[in-house]
Amino acid sequence: MPDSLRNDADVLEVPESRDFRAYHAFLRSCRNFMEGPIVRQMGEAYERSVGDGAEPQSLEEAQPVLDDLLEFQLYSWCFRHFQRFKYHRPDFGIFDTVNKDRDHIISELEAAAATAGDDLRLDESLELPEYYRFVDFHQHTGGVYSDPLDGMSYEFGRRTTNPAHMDPNLIYRLSYSQFPDRAFEKVLDWGTGHGAGLIEWQKIHPESECYGVDLSAPCLKLAHKRAQEHGFKFKLSQQDLEHLDFEDDTFDCIFHLFMFHEIPPVNLKNALREAHRVLKPGGLFIGPEFGQGDGSPMFKAVQQSHAWNNNETFTAPWIEFDMDKAARGVGFSKVSIEPFKPYQSGGAKKGSRVTSWRFYQLEK
Ligand SMILES: C[S@@+](CC[C@H](N)C(=O)[O-])C[C@H]1O[C@@H](n2cnc3c(N)ncnc32)[C@H](O)[C@@H]1O
Repeated sequence: MPDSLRNDADVLEVPESRDFRAYHAFLRSCRNFMEGPIVRQMGEAYERSVGDGAEPQSLEEAQPVLDDLLEFQLYSWCFRHFQRFKYHRPDFGIFDTVNKDRDHIISELEAAAATAGDDLRLDESLELPEYYRFVDFHQHTGGVYSDPLDGMSYEFGRRTTNPAHMDPNLIYRLSYSQFPDRAFEKVLDWGTGHGAGLIEWQKIHPESECYGVDLSAPCLKLAHKRAQEHGFKFKLSQQDLEHLDFEDDTFDCIFHLFMFHEIPPVNLKNALREAHRVLKPGGLFIGPEFGQGDGSPMFKAVQQSHAWNNNETFTAPWIEFDMDKAARGVGFSKVSIEPFKPYQSGGAKKGSRVTSWRFYQLEK
């Protein structure tokens, strides 16, 4: 239980059977095996296969080498199906488990939303971008926006997304540990989802007035409920990052957590421009992302496979996205793109995917 919860009785929880817990612990171990030994063996097999021949120079050249490797085929199968099992298994799958408690969850979320006032601004007329509706990302059927339980299912799903982490909030704390050590008055969580990242932020930064935007009403309702449970007051709103309704120069900091690979390049550039507009001069746009790494053809090809295997379609163009150029192009004066240090200093095995993560810090 998070430490800042006021009263356990207020907390919306979905009953988890022993079988549910055992099944998801098993899947998490499977994912650890996939991300650990299988990834390592895949890297070694790739090097053996390239041997003394010409090293692939591009993603296109690396792809057929990988495709021939049993290790890559196994990795791809695991990536696709562990995620599918997580959501879709009848009985212990996330969708079925959450659905058993449907009426209770909806009534709790609606009750919290009914008294939210300005803390939760939903926009039923908001047209969701086509790219967002086009694919069920993360293999979450119907996306995270089409069913009232989607926020809850997404919150469950994240537990096994970062496999090495038994504590799903650790990734947020590791990310914030890379931020400049100072107070931030007004912050925006750029694509806040179920709100867990914003809650971790507020625990560390009680001084901040916290805003969050997302396209998904079910996610925002859950984020609002979670904030209430912690005694926090967030300003949450359903908006498209490309068209924010905040005034110019509003925020001291906008943080983003694993957002860039979700958004097609044209939309990402528009959203960057908008982020720049609503930041105060000197304000920071900051956070981690995976996918580009050292730029080696093999890593790019493995990353691209996630686009197809996990329905993260826009990971493919993200791999080639020039963030430095795009950020300067919309007016950011300083751009720093560094390895994500918590995973470089001994935390991750050589060849592991997480060593390819980067930390982006842009200043207006
Ligand atoms: C990978 S999740 C990240 C969620 C959260 N930041 C976290 O790390 O837990 C992507 C989130 O971005 C939201 N999203 C995607 N495109 C968006 C857009 N154009 N405007 C607002 N939110 C968007 C999705 O609904 C989803 O909740």
